[in-house]
Amino acid sequence: MSNRAVAVLRGDVVSGTVWITQNSESDPAVIEGEIKGLTPGLHGFHIHQFGDSTNGCISAGPHFNPFGKTHGGPNSEVRHVGDLGNVEAGADGVAKVKITDKFVTLYGQNTVIGRSIVVHAGEDDLGQGVGDKAEESKKTGNAGARSACGVIALAAPQ
Ligand code: CU
Ligand code: ZN
Repeated sequence: MSNRAVAVLRGDVVSGTVWITQNSESDPAVIEGEIKGLTPGLHGFHIHQFGDSTNGCISAGPHFNPFGKTHGGPNSEVRHVGDLGNVEAGADGVAKVKITDKFVTLYGQNTVIGRSIVVHAGEDDLGQGVGDKAEESKKTGNAGARSACGVIALAAPQ
């Protein structure tokens, strides 16, 4: 049976809706939606560990990382499960999201249901930061402040 989840992202200026669909445990997850109110350009886009917004997006905690890896990009061999790279907003501040990912799952022990999606003010360097950016690059990708977040909740299958 396919699983489907939805996160409604809210921030001071940024908002959006992101759906996650997975047809079976062995299929990749499809993450799609729209986020508005962004500055034009690239914005870090991750699944964070907790579905807790009691202290705004900060209480979502770090990137979801059940296997104890370092930060990377969506196509990296070594990455956090939550590392979905960047979304790109156009001149109108709207980012259309369409990601297929084989690490994110809606099944089993490492389901992302109940965790959070976060979109950041800045660009994720995908773990490639150098010099004084290198250390943080391996943790957060230097994506900056959390512009909006939403809890990944179970949705009705389509
Ligand atoms: Cu993040
Ligand atoms: Zn990460």
